[in-house]
Amino acid sequence: MKSSAFLLVLEALAFHWHQNHMTPRYIYRITSAIRQKRKEQPACSYNEWRCDDGECLRINSDCDGYIDCYDGSDETFELCRNRECGPFTFRCNYGACVDDSSPCDNLSQCADKSDESLPRCRGENIIEGEKMKCRDGQMIPKEQRCDGIVNCADGFDETVAACAELRCRSEQFQCEYGGCVDGQAQCNGTIECVDGSDEKVELCGRRILVRPTTVLPTTAVPSYKVS
Ligand SMILES: *[C@@H]1O[C@H](CO)[C@@H](O)[C@H](O)[C@H]1NC(C)=O
Ligand SMILES: *[C@@H]1O[C@H](CO)[C@@H](O)[C@H](O)[C@H]1NC(C)=O
Repeated sequence: MKSSAFLLVLEALAFHWHQNHMTPRYIYRITSAIRQKRKEQPACSYNEWRCDDGECLRINSDCDGYIDCYDGSDETFELCRNRECGPFTFRCNYGACVDDSSPCDNLSQCADKSDESLPRCRGENIIEGEKMKCRDGQMIPKEQRCDGIVNCADGFDETVAACAELRCRSEQFQCEYGGCVDGQAQCNGTIECVDGSDEKVELCGRRILVRPTTVLPTTAVPSYKVS
């Protein structure tokens, strides 16, 4: 069963209200019921992809940088992080693959906007010799860029912008924002990525007590989830 156009419009409205923290309670109840109903639906057809909430999309719409699912489940770190991006593609920090013409065209093709966060989009070069330049001009050893530990006073070395286009070594774990930490870090009970993505419930399948080993940055990694 497909939702009628009316219900889709209602959902879009509810989403808008939700974003603005003004969802009327009765609308929220109705749309929750719709989503619950979708979840109970049987699988999608063979040429479709199923969102976590049950919505069916055309196949190949997952990890393409564009959020198609109402719940954003087609563009998540958990789903996309190990995708191999082919030739002529750009890898978004969370793992989606977009066309290699995407960076710096003033349009965000990546759900996390990493294609437009590149320093070169602003004509900047953050690596100078053996050093990396923080936003505020501070210089740190370039090995400290995107290593899971905040070294810049302004936190810039552990951000989507600083880590865009970075590919970790195969034995490492790549964080959602793009940082590289030890491969053992994944779901082992301690947070190693500054955004906590190595211990995400969605990735590890369980909520566990975590004690951060690193100082969390004051500049939060941007969240791009729809929900
Ligand atoms: C993007 O926008 C900036 C500022 O508005 C402009 O200088 C630049 O030329 C634009 N780049 C492209 C590829 O359109
Ligand atoms: C998790 O892995 C990291 C990186 O290898 C390590 O430093 C940390 O001690 C580990 N935590 C636990 C609880 O084993």
